[in-house]
Amino acid sequence: MIVDIGGGTTEVAVIALAGIVLSKSIRVAGDKMDEAIVQYIKRKYNLLIGERTAEIIKKEIGSAYPLEEPLTVEVKGRDLVAGVPKTLIVNSDEIREALSEPVNAIVDAVRSVLERTPPELSADIVDRGVVLSGGGAQLKNLDVLLREETGLPVMVCENPQLAVVLGTGKVLDELGLLREIALR
Ligand SMILES: Nc1ncnc2c1ncn2[C@@H]1O[C@H](COP(=O)(O)OP(=O)(O)OP(=O)(O)O)[C@@H](O)[C@H]1O
Ligand SMILES: [Mg+2]
Repeated sequence: MIVDIGGGTTEVAVIALAGIVLSKSIRVAGDKMDEAIVQYIKRKYNLLIGERTAEIIKKEIGSAYPLEEPLTVEVKGRDLVAGVPKTLIVNSDEIREALSEPVNAIVDAVRSVLERTPPELSADIVDRGVVLSGGGAQLKNLDVLLREETGLPVMVCENPQLAVVLGTGKVLDELGLLREIALR
């Protein structure tokens, strides 16, 4: 099973013998996480921040599961009451709460594909595990949460941000492999 978490979409697929057996795509991924952070900070602190700022917060202190050492970050935005620039400190527990809706949607997508997976392939997934790719796979402790929620081995692939590009290059270098996949 591969879970590719990008900016716009999360794709969950079960691949066997070079073919996709079943898959699911949801329009929840990194961008929705950024939006969730903007909404949370607006609701809780009456502070308006930009999506770029939200993405930085997500990358620096965002997590899907409690961190061993809580982190904090300074956030600058516009106070919606006073209308002036304001700075505050947010911590990783708050941001995890902010991210819970999009993160749970990703967990649910994984679960729904697992529920539809034929039993022999389920057994393979128990042995081989779930691989996370895409930039969103770098959200701290997302692998830990998915492991906890599914009971399966979960690992983040090497270089998740570039996995699609590197994989495409690889398949072009090995035309035999491409032919095998493309013939399906
Ligand atoms: N360290 C990180 N923690 C959390 N998210 C991250 C991290 N680094 C990058 N991202 C997020 O990964 C997303 C981009 O991932 P990727 O490059 O795989 O997307 P994409 O392939 O362009 O999008 P899509 O697959 O939806 O078309 C962005 O939302 C970005 O904020
Ligand atoms: Mg992508």
